[in-house]
Amino acid sequence: MNSSLEQRKFVVPEVIVGYDAMKLAAQYLKHFSAKKTMIVTDKGVVGQNWFTQILGSLTAQGIDYMIFEDVSSNPKDYEAMLGAELFLAEDCDSLLAVGGGSPMDCAKCISIVSTNGGHILDYIGVDEIRLPGPPLVCIPTTAGTSADVSQFAIITDSHEHIKKAIISKKVVPDLALIDPIPLMTMDLYLTACTGMDALTHAIEAYVSNASSSITDIHALNAIKLVYEFLPLAVKEDRTIETMHQMLLGSMHAGFAFSNASLGAVHALAHSLGGVLDLPHGECNSILLQRLIAVNFDAAPLRYRRIAETIGIQTSGLSDEHVKLNLVEAISNLREIVGIPEAVTMPLPNKDTIASMVTSALTDPCMVTNPKELSYDEVEELYVHLFQKR
Ligand SMILES: [Fe+2]
Repeated sequence: MNSSLEQRKFVVPEVIVGYDAMKLAAQYLKHFSAKKTMIVTDKGVVGQNWFTQILGSLTAQGIDYMIFEDVSSNPKDYEAMLGAELFLAEDCDSLLAVGGGSPMDCAKCISIVSTNGGHILDYIGVDEIRLPGPPLVCIPTTAGTSADVSQFAIITDSHEHIKKAIISKKVVPDLALIDPIPLMTMDLYLTACTGMDALTHAIEAYVSNASSSITDIHALNAIKLVYEFLPLAVKEDRTIETMHQMLLGSMHAGFAFSNASLGAVHALAHSLGGVLDLPHGECNSILLQRLIAVNFDAAPLRYRRIAETIGIQTSGLSDEHVKLNLVEAISNLREIVGIPEAVTMPLPNKDTIASMVTSALTDPCMVTNPKELSYDEVEELYVHLFQKR
């Protein structure tokens, strides 16, 4: 059977994109009959002017709220459990996540546990959630994670120090309010890391075994947008139009990866980021060029299309030549946005590397990687991340 006839589903939330979209949060929560909303955010957001305006609009709509800001970067299982306990104790009926991937993922986890009970780690894996949670509205403040449009929630297992993935339609938010204003104050290095995360989402979704004609359109759009606008987004004089284009790129990448899933970059990054508590986008950036080199031969036509999408001339060139040019272009972009080529921390001991390899190989993202990787290949990749080639 022609592979384009294979069944594929496509799930996305309601999305409002554009200037001042975030100001619609209170109005929409009112539509959801919210009486008391838990706002899940982080301390960096709480001091912002626009955040105070959102609080004012909730009050104006007669919606009570509580702020849960105890969310670290790479959110931990115990933070989600505390959030769920407070959500129930305070009689909240809805969630508003304002922030990057960490508060949004934490809000998703609070939604799962407050409705289904048990421990958040009970829901690791694909489709393990029974009941849908309360209404969830997201306002992303970074252009990269796309947790606001995805069916993924990533949580760190604090005992094993590994980031684990929950994948379910039940964690797709009800509404994403995608507004460039919160991005204007985003730290430049965070902009670089989250932008490279978005590019990784798009590339992995495009070469995924579960890609479809629908996700392909979004993935290629995202690759083009992020490749063009990320170098501008990491400059001090970036414009609101640039950040809007980055948000669009991130959103398209989110539509693609949420439905086509990801690959080995994310599988390896989840273990790496969990063990070393490194920013997710930084882990992906360091891994991306290496995994393109490893995966290329398993999907050469797809990688050629990615190369063409970012302006690389491919006609008449061998696969090997295109691969080298693509790896070089991705590496140059990483350099331009200021992310190092290797992990600057010391190499973990053998046992830690062994557990990182095992968990990368069993990560749900590995299932859709275009090439099956062996234990030795993953181990070698990890070891080489800690030193310059
Ligand atoms: Fe990611």
